[in-house]
Amino acid sequence: MKEVILKHPMIEHKISILRNEKTSTKEFRELISEIASILCLEALKDAKLEEITVKTPITLTKGYRINEDNYAFVPILRAGMGMVDGVLRLMPTAKIGHIGLYRNEKTLEPVEYYCKLPNNIEEKTVILLDPMLATGGSAVNAISKLKDRGVKKIKFLSIISAPAGIKKIQETYPDVEIYTAYLDKELNEFGYIVPGLGDAGDRIYGTK
Ligand code: PRP
Ligand code: URA
Repeated sequence: MKEVILKHPMIEHKISILRNEKTSTKEFRELISEIASILCLEALKDAKLEEITVKTPITLTKGYRINEDNYAFVPILRAGMGMVDGVLRLMPTAKIGHIGLYRNEKTLEPVEYYCKLPNNIEEKTVILLDPMLATGGSAVNAISKLKDRGVKKIKFLSIISAPAGIKKIQETYPDVEIYTAYLDKELNEFGYIVPGLGDAGDRIYGTK
């Protein structure tokens, strides 16, 4: 499957606010969460519907439900946490796992520090969350952890991606679906996405 890139005037508008270095922490968080909802909606287009009967005030009619127990959200800490609110708005009862990784500033290699995943995760579709897909090292590391636990269906959601990160996931794990709001041009010498939005974790948590 090719990656899915959201193309919409509202996304252009919202990403431009995210990029602006003057955008406040509050607005930055709200926009990350909002775009995460939109990405999740797109990623759930293939969700399986179960038929149910609904009693309206007028009559009985055919309706549908999605079994949220078939899904788990897994943010990559820290920045991925910023997307959790947004995806939970769509699926409030889905289980949540956490994978803690940070990039070594010199080697750009991911360093692991935490992993806690829901029981029976191997039976669920996992929606992996990280606003930034740069070299792809963190995403591939997180995907390998999920695969080790037996997860068969993974959808990776990012706000901004670089071509190198998309290529790395697709070459390593071609079965993983990638949904991104925006494809940027390249990485700079420090591994930051250009034009990007800077360090997503720092901007979400106001740590710089
Ligand atoms: C950022 C981002 C990704 C990673 C992307 O996390 O949230 O996890 O970098 O880069 P990569 O594709 O080259 O691996 P960071 O390491 O800054 O940690 P943080 O979320 O704790 O700030
Ligand atoms: N991580 C970030 O937070 N921003 C980038 O541009 C690259 C990696």
